[in-house]
Amino acid sequence: MRPSFVSFARLWAKASPTVRGWLRAPDAYLLYQLARGGPASGQIVEIGSAWGRSTIALAAGTRAARRERVIAIDPHGGDDWYLAEHDLARESSLAEFRDNIKRFGVDQWVDEVVMTSQAAAGVVANEPIRLLFIDGLHTYEGVRSDIETWVPRVVEGGVVVFDDYDNHDPGVGVQRAVDELLASDLVDGHLRKRFNLCWAYRLRDAG
Ligand SMILES: C[S@@+](CC[C@H](N)C(=O)[O-])C[C@H]1O[C@@H](n2cnc3c(N)ncnc32)[C@H](O)[C@@H]1O
Repeated sequence: MRPSFVSFARLWAKASPTVRGWLRAPDAYLLYQLARGGPASGQIVEIGSAWGRSTIALAAGTRAARRERVIAIDPHGGDDWYLAEHDLARESSLAEFRDNIKRFGVDQWVDEVVMTSQAAAGVVANEPIRLLFIDGLHTYEGVRSDIETWVPRVVEGGVVVFDDYDNHDPGVGVQRAVDELLASDLVDGHLRKRFNLCWAYRLRDAG
């Protein structure tokens, strides 16, 4: 068995039952692997952290390799669209997020940015990104805005990961926005998939 899988499996055995969220083991392992051994160099940016499930996978991976920190962007006020769809009350995920990343010993590897991805674009240093995980607002407009704002910052050969490409619930527009990205010259046109996540590699800027 690969050592990285053993480390991940130990982590996930504790995180999965105690950290709220939707991310499943195969997807968490993909994020862990990309953070630990993925291509290029630069920041890791996560859009949509919620209670920290994916943040912990990313941060544990990069910590294991002593690589870059994770910039975890989320207004933590709840996803209005998701809450309305599922008839849930609005509740901040921030306290639980902080508690979770501390409990898993990755708080020193995470820079929290408590604002929307659009607002964060003006605050986060405009430095190269090697791994971008887009899991914020899932509407077509939301994902398209995240793509337009953040994908140009990803370095050539860096990875852009999305959640919920195959989710066709009303209001979810990940697939449409990702397909438009694939047809552009920002990423290679080949979408890789594992469970609920999909990813593509950033191409060199045309200009
Ligand atoms: C599906 S959850 C993220 C789940 C998390 N990645 C995980 O795997 O545990 C979506 C999150 O996106 C956040 N969100 C909603 N609109 C956002 C925006 N404009 N910018 C950044 N995050 C946003 C919500 O607050 C919510 O926590």
